[in-house]
Amino acid sequence: MEKYKNKIVVISGGLGDIGSAIALAFGKKGAKVAISDLFGFDDAKHRVEELRSKGCTDLSYHKVDVVSESEITAWIDAVEKEWGLPQIIVPNAGIVIAGSLTGDDLSTDDVKKQLDVNFWGSYHLAVQASKRIRAKGLPGRITFIGSWAAERPNARISAYCISKASIRMLCKTMALELAAYDILVNEIAPGIVEGGLSKKNQQKDPELLKLHLKSTPTRKLVSVDEIAAHVLRLSDFEYNNLTGTTLTVDGGLSLTSKMTQ
Ligand SMILES: NC(=O)c1ccc[n+]([C@@H]2O[C@H](COP(=O)([O-])OP(=O)(O)OC[C@H]3O[C@@H](n4cnc5c(N)ncnc54)[C@H](O)[C@@H]3O)[C@@H](O)[C@H]2O)c1
Repeated sequence: MEKYKNKIVVISGGLGDIGSAIALAFGKKGAKVAISDLFGFDDAKHRVEELRSKGCTDLSYHKVDVVSESEITAWIDAVEKEWGLPQIIVPNAGIVIAGSLTGDDLSTDDVKKQLDVNFWGSYHLAVQASKRIRAKGLPGRITFIGSWAAERPNARISAYCISKASIRMLCKTMALELAAYDILVNEIAPGIVEGGLSKKNQQKDPELLKLHLKSTPTRKLVSVDEIAAHVLRLSDFEYNNLTGTTLTVDGGLSLTSKMTQ
């Protein structure tokens, strides 16, 4: 309980299923949790109240488009002013647009959008926060939410794979640059999660759930709570040498040679 008490955590895309689970897991341990997402407060209210009622009592919400560097700056400024500098950072906001690069179902704009949100959104938050943490001589823990798709090309979601692969190298280069300052940078690579982006796609195409289960060697989807628990482990200030790694939480999906068709 004490480990995260009063620690300040920021999570982008915090209204989503994985982001909310991470917020709740930190909140239940006594952390002060700042989440952001694309929506105004009225649309965010339901989830924010739900998180507070479940035990994430010190919770703040800001409307932030992660693609905008200035909105990220304003968000970190606001959190710092209210609570102090956040030292646990979780770039989590993400989108997926299905389609293959060389077919006619994915436009150049679709590719750019995914790089904007998934890569640039993660970059702005991680780089800005880490510069401030380093300038104050404090330790920090950054955990990117990547994907199994960074490792395995998948023609159904080609641009998403590229965007998640770019986060992996961002994680490693930042880990190298920041290791001497006790700012440790890691990535969690979920497989097919029970919720969030996968669930939305499964609702559009019911056959997809069967394919996802068949393709995952454990035959289980990953729960959002399991992802959240691993983020807490990687954010632990008692560990000083775990950096630049990817923790793959995908039931063995990325070990298979091909997603079963
Ligand atoms: N669900 C899965 O199976 C799965 C698997 C692997 C990785 N992931 C990753 O987990 C992360 C969270 O996704 P999720 O599954 O919880 O989906 P989700 O849709 O429930 O959550 C994503 C959140 O990001 C927000 N968002 C989108 N664009 C944004 C922007 N420009 N600025 C700010 N917020 C923005 C959305 O509004 C949403 O609330 C993503 O990075 C995703 O790629 C998900």
